[in-house]
Amino acid sequence: MSAVAIAPLAEPVPRTAIVLLGTGVVGRALLTLLGTPAARSLRLVGAANSRRQHVLADGVTPGEVAERLAKAREGRDNLPLLAALDAASATRKVVVDATACAIEASRHAEWLAAGYHVVTANKALAGGHLSGWRALQSATAGGAVYGDAATVGAGLPVLSTLRRLRHCGDSLLTLEGVFSGSLSWLFNQYDGSRPFSSLLRDARRLGFTEPDPRSDLSGEDVARKLLIIARNAGFALGSDEVEVESLVPEALRGVDTKAFLDRLDELDEPLRERHAQARANGKVLRYLARLNQRGRARVGLVEVGHDHPASRLSGTDNQFALTTTRYHATPLVIQGPGAGPEITAQALLGDVLAL
Ligand SMILES: NC(=O)c1ccc[n+]([C@@H]2O[C@H](COP(=O)([O-])OP(=O)(O)OC[C@H]3O[C@@H](n4cnc5c(N)ncnc54)[C@H](OP(=O)(O)O)[C@@H]3O)[C@@H](O)[C@H]2O)c1
Repeated sequence: MSAVAIAPLAEPVPRTAIVLLGTGVVGRALLTLLGTPAARSLRLVGAANSRRQHVLADGVTPGEVAERLAKAREGRDNLPLLAALDAASATRKVVVDATACAIEASRHAEWLAAGYHVVTANKALAGGHLSGWRALQSATAGGAVYGDAATVGAGLPVLSTLRRLRHCGDSLLTLEGVFSGSLSWLFNQYDGSRPFSSLLRDARRLGFTEPDPRSDLSGEDVARKLLIIARNAGFALGSDEVEVESLVPEALRGVDTKAFLDRLDELDEPLRERHAQARANGKVLRYLARLNQRGRARVGLVEVGHDHPASRLSGTDNQFALTTTRYHATPLVIQGPGAGPEITAQALLGDVLAL
């Protein structure tokens, strides 16, 4: 019997090629998922942090990205990353943005208009100025897809549900909820028995807040999420139309991070008073985002009764209560973990795979 020569299998052409911007907490979690069978139809052709990048149109092994970046000589320039997407001969070309960089976000519309799909955890464009949101709408008219599940609720099915309802002719009337994992945790814990600053130190140590907790306490991140949901629901809200109550005292807004962390105690007295007032009214404090039927949007501290859904949250859970023309008597409530690298990365992967 003569031996049959078996030709080596040609490397299959990937259906989807991706580049990853951002290899921080979320980016690293995504790289782990890219090494799993769920991502076998994807080929990573480049990755970048804020200083360096590694590009290889034939494919970069996700597990080797950190090492490659550490050794990389190439400084940051998006053109070679986009060129690697073009050279991969894939059916779909995707830029995944796992940064919080406003400059990268400002390029999303340009990439979409050039035919690249964009999948993002970065809220800066969709939750920024209305002009940016409008640019996104025009850029997706050509068929490129904007995957934004990770921008709200770390991938809880909020935006997809809203779109599905609208597709069926339903419309959002009001929206209310807790959109920040760190603020959820802080006010779920805060019962007046410990100073707020002491809880905040714990939250920071546990990784629930940003390194500078003012990013959470300012309410700006919550406001961006409210804008993203409201705009997806058809409310053309400008970023200056959200009333934002910051929990950072005026005197601590301009100081550097170290000085802020040294002076955390200055948060305590105003919040102790708010808590005592709420307790006297038989209520608890929650940091809520609200959009009413006239499009008035506000994020800030609210006293809620013990029968309010937000009063029963635990951990870092987020909650989104949507009242629509058809979910009218009681709202549709979406609730669950609203922060965390693994679930956020999964939301990114889900958006890429859905293309
Ligand atoms: N962490 C969560 O649970 C969570 C949940 C939902 C959404 N998000 C969103 O996900 C995004 C990433 O969050 P993260 O927690 O992973 O932040 P992170 O740990 O601070 O990582 C950010 C990464 O972005 C990189 N970066 C900054 N500018 C860049 C640029 N111009 N080009 C390429 N890379 C750049 C940074 O580079 P260096 O390493 O060089 O600094 C870093 O690797 C943010 O928009 C955040 O709001 C996070």
